[in-house]
Amino acid sequence: MTYPEPLLIDDDNGHRGIDVADRQEMLESQLAALFEVSSVLSRSLMLSQTLTEVLELLHQHGRLSKGMVSLVDRETGELLVSALHEDGVAPFESVRYRPGEGIIGRILERNRPWVVPRVADEPRFLDKLGVYEPNLPFIGVPIRIGEEGPVGVFAAQPPACETQLHQRARFLEMVANLIGQAVRLARMVEDERRELREERDKLRRVVRGKHGFDSIIGHTDQMKLIFDQVRQVAKWNTTVLIRGESGTGKELVADAIHYNSPRARNHFLKLNCAALPDNLLESELFGHEKGAFTGASTQRKGRFEQADGGTLFLDEIGDISPAFQAKLLRVLQEGEFERVGGSRTLKVDVRIIAATNRDLETEVRAGDFREDLYYRLNVMPIFMPSLRDRIEDVPELARFLVHKIAKMQSRELRVTDSALRVLMRHSWPGNVRELENCLERAAVMSEQGIIDRDVINLAGLDVGTTDQDLMAPSIASPSVDLDDPNLDERERVIAALEEAGWVQAKAARLLNMTPRQIAYRIQTLNIRVRQF
Ligand SMILES: Nc1ncnc2c1ncn2[C@@H]1O[C@H](COP(=O)(O)OP(=O)(O)OP(=O)(O)O)[C@@H](O)[C@H]1O
Ligand SMILES: [Mg+2]
Repeated sequence: MTYPEPLLIDDDNGHRGIDVADRQEMLESQLAALFEVSSVLSRSLMLSQTLTEVLELLHQHGRLSKGMVSLVDRETGELLVSALHEDGVAPFESVRYRPGEGIIGRILERNRPWVVPRVADEPRFLDKLGVYEPNLPFIGVPIRIGEEGPVGVFAAQPPACETQLHQRARFLEMVANLIGQAVRLARMVEDERRELREERDKLRRVVRGKHGFDSIIGHTDQMKLIFDQVRQVAKWNTTVLIRGESGTGKELVADAIHYNSPRARNHFLKLNCAALPDNLLESELFGHEKGAFTGASTQRKGRFEQADGGTLFLDEIGDISPAFQAKLLRVLQEGEFERVGGSRTLKVDVRIIAATNRDLETEVRAGDFREDLYYRLNVMPIFMPSLRDRIEDVPELARFLVHKIAKMQSRELRVTDSALRVLMRHSWPGNVRELENCLERAAVMSEQGIIDRDVINLAGLDVGTTDQDLMAPSIASPSVDLDDPNLDERERVIAALEEAGWVQAKAARLLNMTPRQIAYRIQTLNIRVRQF
C-alpha cells in the first residue's frame, strides 16, 4: 500500500534538536499505547464504546487531548462524530462535516493527514465541536480500510510543548489503521446482521401469508363466524379448543391463530397426542433428564420448554389417557411441570391451542375425559363447520385447492363449472381433506389439465353419498327436464340454477321467471346460493 506523503506543516524545531533518549522514550510509550489500543479494539464490536475507550487511553497514556473519531455515514457520505474525548462531553451527535468542509472535511477529501501547529493561527479551522484548545496544535489523519477511500477522520490535540509533530502524526496514522480494521469488522458484522434480519423478515412474511387468513377459504356465514373468532382470540393468551370433524381445517385455524397472535415471532410447536403412548407423550411434552429411562442418554427439553413464550398445539387432545389427563391438567393450571426423571420444577409461559374431533361432552359424561381438564381447555371453543353444512363454499374451495395442486405439480390446472356442480352434490364426510384428495386424484388423471365432471367421476367420487337433503337426486344428470312433474318447486329452482351455472338471471329465463321472482323463490325456499 502506498501512503500519500503526510502533509506536514513543520513545527519550528523540526526534530533535529531532540535528544536521543527523549526520542527513545517517546517511541517506547507510543508502542505501549498502540498495544493497548489494539487490545481495546479487539475486545468488542460495540464500536462507539471501544472508540471512546481508545480516546480515553490516548488521553491518559499518550498525552493526546480532544481525541475525536468521525466516520462516514454510508448513506449520506457525510462525516458523523462517533466518539469524542472531552470531559465536559459536548452533544456531538448532531455535528457533521461534508467532504471538503473545514479541516476535518478536507482531510477526508484529500485522504491525507493535516498538522496545525497552533489552532488559533489556522483560519480554516471551524471548531464545530467547540472543544479545541486554541493554543494547542491539532493533528487529523484519515481512517482507511485497505485500498478503499477513507472511511473517516481521527483527530486529536498533542501538548503545546510538542516538538515532533510529524512524528506524532505518524503515530496517529497507526492508530487510525487499527481503528480502520475495527470499523471494517464492525461494518461486516453489521451488514451480515442486516442481511439476516431482512431474510428473517422476508421468511416471516411468507410464513404469515401461508398461515394467515388468506389460506382459509370460505365465505359462508359459518366461516365468517370462524374468521371473527380467530381474529378475536388471536390477540389474547386464552386457551383455544378447536372442535370439528376430521378434515374441517382445525390445524389450519390453529396456524392462523398463532401466526396472527403477539406470539407469532416465537415458537409454534405441534404435537399429535394420539400418535404416542403415555410414556413417550410425557417425555415429548415435558422432556427428560439424563438417565431417566433406558435410552435417555442425554437431557432433553420437552415441547413445553421449547415453546416457552410461544404456542403449543395439542392435536387430538380427546385421545389422551386419564393418567395423562391429570399430568396435563397440572401444567395447564400452574404452568409448572418437571422433566421425566427430574425433581426441579420448571415454569413456562405457553399458550395452548388444542383440537379434537371427539365429542368431549359425551366422554366427560361417560367418565372418559376429566371434567376439570375439559373446563380448562374449553375456555374458548371454536366449532369448525363440516363441509356439507357450507356446501356453498365448495366452488371457491375447489378452485383454491386446484390452484394449490397446480403449483405442486408445476403446471396449469383448471376446474370446470360442471365439475364444480358435481362436487357440490357430494356430502363430503371427509370434509376439505376429502375434497383436496379427490381433486388431486382428478388432477393426476386429467392429462390436459382440465378437471371436468367426467374426471371427477372417474376420480372416484362416491356419488352414493350425495346429500339427498341438500340437492334433489333427479338433478344429478347434466340436463334436467325442468318440466318434470316429479320435481317439486325447490328442486325445480335448484335444477335451473344448476343448469345456469348458478347465474340467477339465466336460471330465471329457463324457468320463465323474472330475476326478481327467482330471487324471491330462492329466499322463500331457503336455497343457499353461490356465485361462480
Ligand atoms: N377452509 C379451508 N380452506 C382451505 N383449505 C382448507 C380449509 N380447511 C381445510 N383445508 C385443507 O384441508 C386439509 C385438512 O385440514 P386440517 O388438517 O386443518 O384438518 P383437521 O381438522 O385438522 O383434520 P383432522 O381432524 O383429520 O386432523 C389441509 O390440507 C388444509 O389445508
Ligand atoms: Mg388435524
